[in-house]
Amino acid sequence: MLTASRLTVSRILSLVRCFVGVMNTATKFQFVMISLVFATIFASNHCLVFAQTAGEKFKNVKVLTAMPAEQMGKVMNMMSASLGVNCSYCHEGTNFAKENVGHKDDARKMLTMTLGINTTHFEGKPSVSCYTCHRGNTNAASTIPLDSTRDSTIATRALTSHPATQPTVEAILQKHIEALGGREKLESIKTRHIVAQRVEPNGQSEPEELWQTSGGQSRMETKYGNVVIVEVFDGKDTWKSVNDRVIDLKWDEVEQIRREALVAWGLNLESIRSMLEYKQVEQIGDRIAHLIVRKTSGNLDERLYFDVESGLLIRRICSVPTVLGAFEYQVEYNDYQVMSDFLQPTKIRFAVPNVTWTRQVISVEINPDINSTLFQKP
Ligand code: HEC
Ligand code: HEC
Repeated sequence: MLTASRLTVSRILSLVRCFVGVMNTATKFQFVMISLVFATIFASNHCLVFAQTAGEKFKNVKVLTAMPAEQMGKVMNMMSASLGVNCSYCHEGTNFAKENVGHKDDARKMLTMTLGINTTHFEGKPSVSCYTCHRGNTNAASTIPLDSTRDSTIATRALTSHPATQPTVEAILQKHIEALGGREKLESIKTRHIVAQRVEPNGQSEPEELWQTSGGQSRMETKYGNVVIVEVFDGKDTWKSVNDRVIDLKWDEVEQIRREALVAWGLNLESIRSMLEYKQVEQIGDRIAHLIVRKTSGNLDERLYFDVESGLLIRRICSVPTVLGAFEYQVEYNDYQVMSDFLQPTKIRFAVPNVTWTRQVISVEINPDINSTLFQKP
């Protein structure tokens, strides 16, 4: 049995990405400290991920008792985003177990109701979530608005359709490769070094650097003052470290790191061809895109959107299941520009419920020498 003894240090910041958004005013130092608290609270031991329930792990859980403990962070972020609030709407500081605070009890009643609706009317599927009624507001309207502003999601669905002749997945991947400069050109690129900034919604930014190889290896380094966070996919294994100390990753975090590394290299998408399936065209902002779905044996389906006109990959969404439905992880590839004679997205926007951040690319070096030790575990 694994104990909690390694909790604090070894799992620091494993959730850095997911909780930045709730700390708009935090300074870098406060940010790191708060992240540490969250990481400790939600840290899950990968061996116990599916075994431990929220009821066993947390102090005052009365409704979500049977939920896998590892879903807690995601579900709390989803509830916050569904109501358009921060954690402080229902909690006092970081004492999340404290009772009789804010709207915590209201939220419990709502949780009971929502889970009940799904059990009774939707065969246990999480069809109804907080967002179904709340739509980003604390109050849920029961009257129909009569103004001219239409719900954008309704407009999106109306535009969704199957084209008369379905393009093949091969044709879409081919167009994507051509848009990026063509197969020959892409094949001549063996390594890449990217210098960027990670920009938080409040404008604060941290330096970020990426090293990638055509073999699918990828290293990302983000510096929060003295704290250096590194995420690596070495072509086989995935690891993450904080100041050279390796920390545990949840299964879906491992997948996200691998998948980012894969799509970063246009040609490598062909290696997952057998998992890809054409779906339909959809409106994404002012663009029309082909949707290709990546089916996995696991629980992490992925949607890839390719701009019909340009052929470029413009969006990727991964869905992680929770008791309140899908926790979505979205990456938008914006502002494609030629850098070092190579076309690439220069503004990459990441979003999970309640949290967003952007990678602004500053410069790209093609075919630099990359020391393989960069991909080695510390
Ligand atoms: C809309 C209200 C609401 C919001 C917003 C909310 N929570 Fe909660 N939280 C709850 C409720 C209700 C429970 C108890 C659930 C139960 O009893 O099953 C809970 C429980 C928790 C627990 C378990 C505490 C324990 O040990 O018993 C943690 C940790 C937690 N929340 C963290 C967060 C974080 C972090 C955020 C912000 C990202 C957040 N919550 C936002 C309502 C909320
Ligand atoms: C079936 C629709 C529906 C669902 C699903 C739903 N709510 Fe509500 N919720 C309401 C309505 C209606 C109100 C009352 C709004 C009012 O009176 O203005 C409300 C009120 C609340 C309030 C009290 C707000 C206040 O300031 O009085 C909280 C907190 C809340 N809901 C949280 C949640 C959470 C968290 C979930 C998901 C676990 C959820 N709700 C799911 C319909 C829903």
